[in-house]
Amino acid sequence: MTFMFKNGLIKEEVQDDLLSRGYSRRQMMRTAMMFAGGAAALTMSGESARAADDEAGSGMVRIGLNECWAGPMEPGLKAGTAALAQSNRYSPNGEIEILTKTISTLDNVPVDHVSVYPGSGGILSRAIVAYCSPTKGMVMADPSYNNVVRTANFIKSPVSLVALTSDYRHDVKAMLAANPNAGLYYVVNPNNPTGTMTPMAEIEWLVENKPAGAIVLIDEAYIHWTNEYPNNTALHLVRAGKEVIIARTFSKIFGMAGARCGYLVAQPDVLKKIALFESDRPSMATAACANASLTATSLMAARRKELFANRAMTADYLTKRGLRVIGPSYGNMIMVDWKTKTAKEMIAIYKAANVQIAADRWPVWPTVGRISIGSKKEMDAFIAASGKILT
Ligand SMILES: Cc1ncc(COP(=O)(O)O)c(C=O)c1O
Repeated sequence: MTFMFKNGLIKEEVQDDLLSRGYSRRQMMRTAMMFAGGAAALTMSGESARAADDEAGSGMVRIGLNECWAGPMEPGLKAGTAALAQSNRYSPNGEIEILTKTISTLDNVPVDHVSVYPGSGGILSRAIVAYCSPTKGMVMADPSYNNVVRTANFIKSPVSLVALTSDYRHDVKAMLAANPNAGLYYVVNPNNPTGTMTPMAEIEWLVENKPAGAIVLIDEAYIHWTNEYPNNTALHLVRAGKEVIIARTFSKIFGMAGARCGYLVAQPDVLKKIALFESDRPSMATAACANASLTATSLMAARRKELFANRAMTADYLTKRGLRVIGPSYGNMIMVDWKTKTAKEMIAIYKAANVQIAADRWPVWPTVGRISIGSKKEMDAFIAASGKILT
């Protein structure tokens, strides 16, 4: 918050930025209050905001929030615990700087192209405020990670929702046509909730054809789960100097959703624009844990293998029950068309059977629900419950 406020007032450079981009004084104040906590849920991760409705501690099978079934990887836990023991210091060993350096090495970008944040949900909101305004809209796929719509609505930025193609790719041409003068084009790859991928050539087309000054925000929250990782990321577009932002999170394969860590990779001027609306940093223990986890490649591969087996088992089961499974999914989730019941009805039915599946969030597909892929034990429990439900 220190970036946005000075002596209790919104800093002049933030005022200048917002007013020059078509925000009224009133909207500027609302935006400032959003980041100051007045509407904190808008800037929090959608999933962490939703965790309030989660069935924590209830003994339910929790496959509703695309979390990992396991906690932080062993090297991460070890490093995080060591840093926690030194938490009398604000920054015992420069943990954020070390993490930033590791990311820059692994992602092959200069250090000043990386910014670390407490999770990625909040930074998506900040990117929207930095690039959208009441006169510059946001374009995204439908269904996709629509938590971001709340931020755009709050700043009164027009939102264009563009249907996925029939094989569940982002329809990049339709996205550009929907608003050829937008401020931000949001691409989630693999997509949430479908888990499906948009080919890189199509993302590149959008980057080449978007209006000058607009940004393409590529959310790679689930990229580590894909078998092609790290060869299928859009990081090369940053290396080529393009107007793109890559968003990553430690909440998924790294099992750190509650620890809160994510990062952006972009040109330094893009990161600076977003930093005007910056929030806090992750804790040092979280940063140390993230740093040690990033290089645990064999543990990542083991989690991936476990995911593939559990996802295939669940999808096969649902298909054999005559249901349509959307896909192929490359993430830790699948969508299923319940056909004769709405997603909302099925959520209640599974809840009564002690299974929490995703909330009813994609009105464009009213009979389709999302199931996160958990451990073998969790998916066995889901299948056992389904055996009684899908009669
Ligand atoms: C596509 C996508 N982006 C971002 C997030 C936010 O993740 P976090 O704030 O936990 O980093 C999520 C959470 O589920 C997500 O699905």
